[in-house]
Amino acid sequence: MTHAHLHRLVVEGGYASWRRLALRALAYAWPPETITWTERTATGGAAGGQMTLDALQDEAAGPPRDAPALPRVRISRNLAALLHDAALYRSPGRWPLLYRVVWRWHQGDRAVASAADEDGARLHAMAKSVRRAKHDMIAYLRFKERADGGSPQYLAWYEPEHDVLPFAAEHFAQRMGASTWWIGTPHGAAWWDGRDLHISEAALQATAMPITDDEVEPLWLAYYQNTFNPARLNECALERQMPVRFWRHLPEGPLIPRMVAEARDGARRLAQSGAIGTMPGKPVAVEAARAQPLRAPASSLDQCRRCELWRHATQPVPGCGPANARLMLVGEQPGDHEDLSGRAFIGPAGKVLDDAMRRAGVARESVYLTNAVKHFKWIARGKRRLHKTPAQREVEACSQWLREEMVRVRPAVIVTLGATALRAVLGPQFPLRDHLGMPLRQGDAWVVPTWHPSYALRASGAEKEAAIIDDIVRAIAHARELASTD
Ligand code: URA
Repeated sequence: MTHAHLHRLVVEGGYASWRRLALRALAYAWPPETITWTERTATGGAAGGQMTLDALQDEAAGPPRDAPALPRVRISRNLAALLHDAALYRSPGRWPLLYRVVWRWHQGDRAVASAADEDGARLHAMAKSVRRAKHDMIAYLRFKERADGGSPQYLAWYEPEHDVLPFAAEHFAQRMGASTWWIGTPHGAAWWDGRDLHISEAALQATAMPITDDEVEPLWLAYYQNTFNPARLNECALERQMPVRFWRHLPEGPLIPRMVAEARDGARRLAQSGAIGTMPGKPVAVEAARAQPLRAPASSLDQCRRCELWRHATQPVPGCGPANARLMLVGEQPGDHEDLSGRAFIGPAGKVLDDAMRRAGVARESVYLTNAVKHFKWIARGKRRLHKTPAQREVEACSQWLREEMVRVRPAVIVTLGATALRAVLGPQFPLRDHLGMPLRQGDAWVVPTWHPSYALRASGAEKEAAIIDDIVRAIAHARELASTD
């Protein structure tokens, strides 16, 4: 027997909870119009007022003894994706709609999945809005580093339009290695402790965290002003990428209009700064390295704990190339792309290097490519992981691995890319600017110092960029000649 709104179902905890209830309701063949769907809110009450707990809710007791078997509902992959996304649409209307769609589908009414259908159109629109909210949260959320050094290290506050916090939290958990962070929203919080992701629906807990830090804010704003590059400003792109309504989420938001105005006024200056590799590295004389017997490393690179960089990296990035390569190219440290993929020089700097090698007549497969430091060192700036120059102690800690590679491969020529690589190979007494492109004999090998390819990427203007790349090409071509005659 069915009466209008006879059944009251309470969804606690999103899609999974709704799905459990929906399957039972389908098993009982309850038509959509006989069910009132209610959501239990984080604070414990049910949105929509008083409600009776249905027997279906009583998980501890389990389903009633005469409960029919759950039906098998086969839905298309597309519809499943739509349901998943629409379930994140923050409105109590989502659950009745989802049930109506599944009910009709289960009755054989395939039109319900189409955007031309009334229910289908609502489902599509809700899913679309949720997908946009997912994208926006990932694009516009900004972490701030805590000034007090406490844990979690990074904090962010964001007000997503829909229930996309778990989705974004998964994304950031995968991206931020062992760095701990906390994201607060009005509807819950997510916390990454470096190993596990914790998601809480308690908004109270969300507001209890110290999200406004008087010390951090000015630092963050100073950073943003320093990395803002008026010469490359494209206002339309800025507004398209970062719609004005999101600016309030960003500490730098209030600065944007003024910076845009200054850029319009002709304040053309390159504000990005910091040449790569200004920190001295450990002297590792090739001769001395070769004199040492090839010792098996104490542990494999994967287990390396010689410095702290492993904590925040996805993985170490070993060198790669033929075991008997005549040419070895040494960079500074893996970047964002390399950290995620585990392969050296595959990001933007790698593209510049590939091009330079091609112009120098050197096949990438013929050289041994490695880095002075094997773990990615970075700082979080918003959702981006920005390269941070390794400290000397980190270069020193990692020298064991570079030395092991040099001894194993025994290259005839080593091209050092950037100051960190040069210092890691030859020591601090060889500043890059004094030795650029000049081959230096070290034991059995030549060392040819040149720029790091990412220096070209930061160059102020096409002419400068081309000149840097030309220098790199010349150094590699010279190295190739030395390798073929040595
Ligand atoms: N920069 C480097 O020094 N090495 C890489 O592998 C990538 C970028």
